[in-house]
Amino acid sequence: MTSQGPVVIVLAAGEGTRMRSATPKVLHAIAGRSLIGHVLEAASAVDPSHVVVVIGHARDQVLAHLEEVAPWVDTVVQEEQRGTGHAVRIALAALASAQALASAPVVVLSGDTPLLTGATVRELVDAHLRTGAAATLLTAVLGDPAGYGRVVRAADGSVESIVEHRDASDEVLAVSEINAGMYAFDPVRLAPALERLTTANDQGEEYLTDVVSLLRADGYPVAGIVVEDAHEILGVNDRVQLAEAGALLRDRTNRRWMREGVSMLDPGSTWIDVDVDLAPDVTILPQTSLLGPTSIATGARIGPGTTLTSCEVGEGATLIHTWAELAVIEAGASVGPFTYLRPGARLGPQARAGAFVEMKNASLGEGAKVPHLSYVGDAEVGDGTNIGAATIFVNYDGQAKHRTVIGRHARIGSDTMLVAPVTVGDGAYTAAGSVITEDVPAGAMAVGRARQRNIPGWVQRKRPDTDSARAADADRDQPPTSEESS
Ligand code: UD1
Ligand code: CA
Repeated sequence: MTSQGPVVIVLAAGEGTRMRSATPKVLHAIAGRSLIGHVLEAASAVDPSHVVVVIGHARDQVLAHLEEVAPWVDTVVQEEQRGTGHAVRIALAALASAQALASAPVVVLSGDTPLLTGATVRELVDAHLRTGAAATLLTAVLGDPAGYGRVVRAADGSVESIVEHRDASDEVLAVSEINAGMYAFDPVRLAPALERLTTANDQGEEYLTDVVSLLRADGYPVAGIVVEDAHEILGVNDRVQLAEAGALLRDRTNRRWMREGVSMLDPGSTWIDVDVDLAPDVTILPQTSLLGPTSIATGARIGPGTTLTSCEVGEGATLIHTWAELAVIEAGASVGPFTYLRPGARLGPQARAGAFVEMKNASLGEGAKVPHLSYVGDAEVGDGTNIGAATIFVNYDGQAKHRTVIGRHARIGSDTMLVAPVTVGDGAYTAAGSVITEDVPAGAMAVGRARQRNIPGWVQRKRPDTDSARAADADRDQPPTSEESS
């Protein structure tokens, strides 16, 4: 933030009743960022000297969120929602008493318009400074302007007034240019005009929009610029609009990534949060969500059916039908299908976690493999080691978690239970079906299971006249001959 930059006021005191939610409206999120977070991000494009958010309803929740995502903003509490004009008036008063007002423009935004871009806020401020108007508003031309304030222009194209839908005559209702609720003001003109607002309107509120006709009456020009993409001013008032805004932002984000060299087979089912970073030549298959600060290196193939939250994926890695959070998948590693990587899972280069494998707080060394049906928790597995199907790292004794360490090029037989804490040395083997409770030295074969005993003729004696007994009788070429075998 710079001291010469504009002051930005964000209005967010309203209740958002139509969301029907315990969460305040502006804290609902799309693409991994709250509605107000998106607005603050757009505002940052004009390098504001101060940002003030007007809060009211559910102020504790909104305040806590702002402290987390935008600790640089100031807040002003509007105890009662007495209108947009009132909200700006108290924000301005707080700024004035903090001596934060200079000659730079005051930008007013709404906290519920997540599609607004920084480029448009910049354009608003630039247009305002260029024309020297006392106020400049952002407008949009809509096919269905219902509900919005209408922009009434004079013959010379300057803005004469804004008339709220509920206060408008039929003639004004026919105007398709609407007030987006985003403005730049000359602070010297704005403050006195706000003092003159009345509540003589259908809602009995102080309308910020009435500032326009007051400025005009005093002979100050008001300009209006039409936003290029009307989607940018879409306000979210209910869950339907939240989903619409989410889909529009998804499309915008996906188009940007595709232009930067990312392939998407089905952009409509690909959801990428704003903090995700993708390299060129990443391929994303259908039904995939990349959430949080996930990063994917070049050549990686993600999906179908994959959700990654805050993961790091290396060059050329592949993830199929995977659910992963806070996991690191290094170059050339492969994951899936149907794999669950929990926080702290780490696959080294060329490592593999295959079908129905769950990993947590565990690392696989370079080229190490867990191909099938295993749980790997609290463990370190060395380079080139193979974990046989259905191996379980028994990390929990009912009270505490323990670690398992396996060396390089070890071979863990199928269905091994590794009862932690336990260590298996470099190059060691375990026999299939073993329960390993003691450390295995390097190069040893650990066998931890009961010896097999065969009881000849048991079925014919104990289960006569069954299909099994008849099948056994028919197999005369190879009758059971020994008491035991392994
Ligand atoms: C406002 C404009 C309307 C414009 C529309 C664009 C006014 C009078 N009308 O109408 O011309 O077309 O936005 O979406 O400004 N808020 C407060 N405190 C208040 C009242 C509102 O913080 O006392 C906040 C709300 O939480 C919201 C924003 O201001 O974020 C806009 O208020 P809202 O009541 O939704 O205004 P609209 O009726 O939509
Ligand atoms: Ca609104």
